[in-house]
Amino acid sequence: MKHLINTRDFSLEEINDLYDRAEVFLDNKQRNILQGRMIITIFFENSTRTRSSFEIAAKRLGANVVSLDVSHSSSSKGETLLDTAATLDAMGPDAIVVRHKRAGVPHILSKHVKCPLINGGDGSHAHPTQALLDFFTIRQHFKGKIKGKKIAIVGDIKNSRVANSNIELLSRAGLEVILVAPPHFLPKTNLSVSNSIKEVIDEVDIIMSLRTQTERHANQIYASLKDYAEDFCITLDLMGKRDILLLHPGPVHRNVDIDDIMMEDPRCQVLEQVKNGVAIRMAVLVKLINEQEAKN
Ligand code: NCD
Repeated sequence: MKHLINTRDFSLEEINDLYDRAEVFLDNKQRNILQGRMIITIFFENSTRTRSSFEIAAKRLGANVVSLDVSHSSSSKGETLLDTAATLDAMGPDAIVVRHKRAGVPHILSKHVKCPLINGGDGSHAHPTQALLDFFTIRQHFKGKIKGKKIAIVGDIKNSRVANSNIELLSRAGLEVILVAPPHFLPKTNLSVSNSIKEVIDEVDIIMSLRTQTERHANQIYASLKDYAEDFCITLDLMGKRDILLLHPGPVHRNVDIDDIMMEDPRCQVLEQVKNGVAIRMAVLVKLINEQEAKN
């Protein structure tokens, strides 16, 4: 059974096909490709955009969606994760989308269900659909000419599943990745690193700013977000007139990650990412559900 737990689950060839399909879905038209199918979303951790993006994607394909409100589900009554998975599975869904604050949960659950399982983000481990939509946005912007393009991933990289998934996917696709963060936000890595965005800004074609994952810090690391912002916020002053694509997975901490002015700047493609996200998730749902049906 094919699941999407991390970006390595799809080869570059599969990703090319996925993008061809996603491009068609950018027209936002209602389709009936998954008419009568049932998709369950279960988010054990807060989410605004990822969950609604999956649900809109499923509905645009004609599928039915059941979103489990975890605060009301039996997991808050002490049911184990595996029992929750078995219960959901017994209802016969065609796909399940899971987000959990613990890394590895989607992988474990995938072993206990009879339909494709999609990781909607697990701890600081992986967020494959986010990386897929980010790479799609980059390819679209550079009209496919992405080999050798340089991207700076800026911010709380160590705690970011978005960074992890992007590092894997973008490196595999031939982009050069530089990690830019204060030392305590940097993971152990073989990639080039810098502690200063000013130092690398002249070399890069793309900046991916990330949110400081305060909920994953055991204790407060930066004296204040204001101090952090002074060094790492993407401002108009920093960007100048440089032709750099600016991305952020959201939610944006305004004036900490990106300042108000840059949020309105045409180089900032945050809303394009959101739009592309729906088309990418439609393509992922179609791919996994069709492949599963072809096997049966
Ligand atoms: C991210 C997440 O939840 O991993 N948001 C998202 O899915 N668009 C990033 C974040 O929370 O900072």
